[in-house]
Amino acid sequence: MKVGVLTGGGDCPGLNAVIRSVVRKGVQQYGFEFVGLRDGWLGALQGNVVPLDISSVRGILPRGGTILGSSRTNPLKHEDGLRRIQETLAAHEVDALVVIGGEDTLGVATELSRQGINLVGVPKTIDNDVSGTDVTFGFNTAVGIATEAIDRLHTTAESHMRTLVVEVMGRHSGWIALHAGVAGGANVILIPERPFDIDQVCEQVKSRFKINYAPIVVVAEGAVPQEGQMILKDQTLDEFGHVRLSGIGEWLAQEIAQRTGKDARTTVLGHIQRGGTPSPFDRWLATRFGLHAVDAVKDGDYGVMVALQATQIVRLPLAEATATTKKVDPSLYDEFEVFFG
Ligand code: F6P
Repeated sequence: MKVGVLTGGGDCPGLNAVIRSVVRKGVQQYGFEFVGLRDGWLGALQGNVVPLDISSVRGILPRGGTILGSSRTNPLKHEDGLRRIQETLAAHEVDALVVIGGEDTLGVATELSRQGINLVGVPKTIDNDVSGTDVTFGFNTAVGIATEAIDRLHTTAESHMRTLVVEVMGRHSGWIALHAGVAGGANVILIPERPFDIDQVCEQVKSRFKINYAPIVVVAEGAVPQEGQMILKDQTLDEFGHVRLSGIGEWLAQEIAQRTGKDARTTVLGHIQRGGTPSPFDRWLATRFGLHAVDAVKDGDYGVMVALQATQIVRLPLAEATATTKKVDPSLYDEFEVFFG
């Protein structure tokens, strides 16, 4: 049995831990052979296939990024995408794929599985927005990085008695903003699921100044003002139709400064949230996902995604997991209302 492994979409800490555990268990326990497809679906389209064995996964558990490379290539947008992937798999005698990705990469996997390609999905993303799994690996690391940044910003904000706006990642969902904002004691948390009222934000900022504290505003990059347009620096779309976000933090700082008459600055955390070594939790979850994904391959249980539900790793139909994006529940957000303002 020969298994191909690929990592697609935005990278996240823990990808290498999955690759390692898939290969370790697959080789040692099941006698499988492995190859890597470089740069996500791009490698599958271009036939860019590399050897993957135990020696190539040695030492990668704590390493961020992905040894296989990644891209946002959507093969379904390429002419003859399916045929080219089938040719690559046939040329390298690959019987099945382990596809490690977020909503886009797994969405493609869902379609390819319908078209008869044997594959198992593993959910990843710092955004934590894949349905069916309580959490994705990468999220815990990103929340840790964002929380540390907020802790640091508190002290400089207080020294200058100014507002600090922290823009975190989260295109369609505010999981990072909510978790890091709560953990870091932010006074305002703005998420894409809930368009915000800029007047209310400024009131919350002012009430903080009144008691001699410097406000910290955490905003997800996909958050939007009520009845407003998304604030975009760059209108270009990737192959999955996503715009490149970033700009809401700067816009907020300008509005807050203008409306409150007090200084405001922005810190955009950006890709720092995705880089570097995975947290112990993410290494543990990624390792478990890898072990269970290779078990699914061994069982010939294709078209599924491994997922964490409570403490168990389960298998779900990929189509179910990729049908919707996992959003922050309004009642969860409301739990923290007492801390806002
Ligand atoms: O999908 C994960 C993510 O980190 C999002 O939070 C963010 O909007 C996007 O990727 C950034 O994409 P890129 O790395 O392509 O700029």
